[in-house]
Amino acid sequence: MRILVTGGAGYIGAHLVVELLGAGHDVVVVDDLSTGHVDALARAQSIAGRTCSLLVGDIADRDLMARALDGVDTVMHLAAFKQVGESMARPERYFRNNVGGLASLLESMVEAGVSRIVYSSTAAVYGSQAPMPLREDSAAFPDSPYGLTKLQGEGMLHQLARCRDWSAVSLRYFNPVGAHPSARIGEPIEVAASLVPRALRALLHRDDRLTVFGTDYDTPDGTCLRDYIHIVDLARAHLLALRALDAPGHRVYNVGTGRPHSVLEVVAACERASGMRVPLVRGDRRPGDVPVALADPSRFREDMGFEARYGLDAMVTSAWNWLVNNPRGYLLGRRFALPRPQLRRRAGDRPQSAF
Ligand SMILES: NC(=O)c1ccc[n+]([C@@H]2O[C@H](COP(=O)([O-])OP(=O)(O)OC[C@H]3O[C@@H](n4cnc5c(N)ncnc54)[C@H](O)[C@@H]3O)[C@@H](O)[C@H]2O)c1
Repeated sequence: MRILVTGGAGYIGAHLVVELLGAGHDVVVVDDLSTGHVDALARAQSIAGRTCSLLVGDIADRDLMARALDGVDTVMHLAAFKQVGESMARPERYFRNNVGGLASLLESMVEAGVSRIVYSSTAAVYGSQAPMPLREDSAAFPDSPYGLTKLQGEGMLHQLARCRDWSAVSLRYFNPVGAHPSARIGEPIEVAASLVPRALRALLHRDDRLTVFGTDYDTPDGTCLRDYIHIVDLARAHLLALRALDAPGHRVYNVGTGRPHSVLEVVAACERASGMRVPLVRGDRRPGDVPVALADPSRFREDMGFEARYGLDAMVTSAWNWLVNNPRGYLLGRRFALPRPQLRRRAGDRPQSAF
């Protein structure tokens, strides 16, 4: 099958390209490199031992997309902005790229006669009011402009499935963590806003402590519980989603493990992986954070047989291995001004999750 991956030079995209090439698909990537890296894609091809095509540009560029879609059977649409906090500060930027960009992509697909799409959605569509665990039919009232853009994207696909007989799958990712077992592709930590990269950053830059937002929640250790999924499990989920495209209609799936982990459990896993202590500081609860955000992953398991293979320690250890092997992130594409980290264990640094 010939598959177009938008955003294929990004964190999730590069891991997805490895899996798609490994499964024998022809892959075309469109990426404007706004947050992605040519080097991530180069490494993905080297891991898979096969090549793909890269067209550098915006998904809203209709001429570029006409070329990219030539001969394509299926689109996997990952290209988007993804920072919840930034979306609160600059919502219009998210509306333009995540909704406007998708609308333009859909027009290009109609013109090219491509009617199968797997869409990167998110747990952020649910918002803080939904009861736990989150089921695909739980009410979706996103708290952020980012979550809203993703829900609107799902709505557009739902209507295309109804009006044009398209096959669409929206995957609501929970918290992707980790890196490829080869340690050659992963998430550059300097810009990432999620917990594991923040914890690893605090480990490396010892003067930069990890703030734990809220330590008085009604949870076993007082910190928030979240559902994490290994990046390779998440990439594999897209191959299963391909099979769900065989029938027309729009299907929505949670992609999580259904296993909750607290902030302090994640910190302890970072300490086990690195052999170093994460410097912590107590912070106030953040507005909008819910005590527990947990997937009910049963629909994807029952319909498509999805089972996550990796647990928390494997996720965090892979993130650590990636970091140790690539302290400066990727070489091509955007560059990171990372000082060389002190990776050696310091005397007296014993793993322990305490303030
Ligand atoms: N990483 C997460 O925590 C997470 C969680 C839930 C959902 N998602 C979704 O998964 C998708 C991929 O996320 P990621 O973590 O790999 O992010 P990322 O920023 O690493 O990757 C996004 C890629 O899309 C590209 N891109 C952005 N806008 C583009 C445009 N207009 N035209 C062409 N390319 C464009 C970027 O250059 C980048 O390579 C996004 O849609 C995101 O919303 C991510």
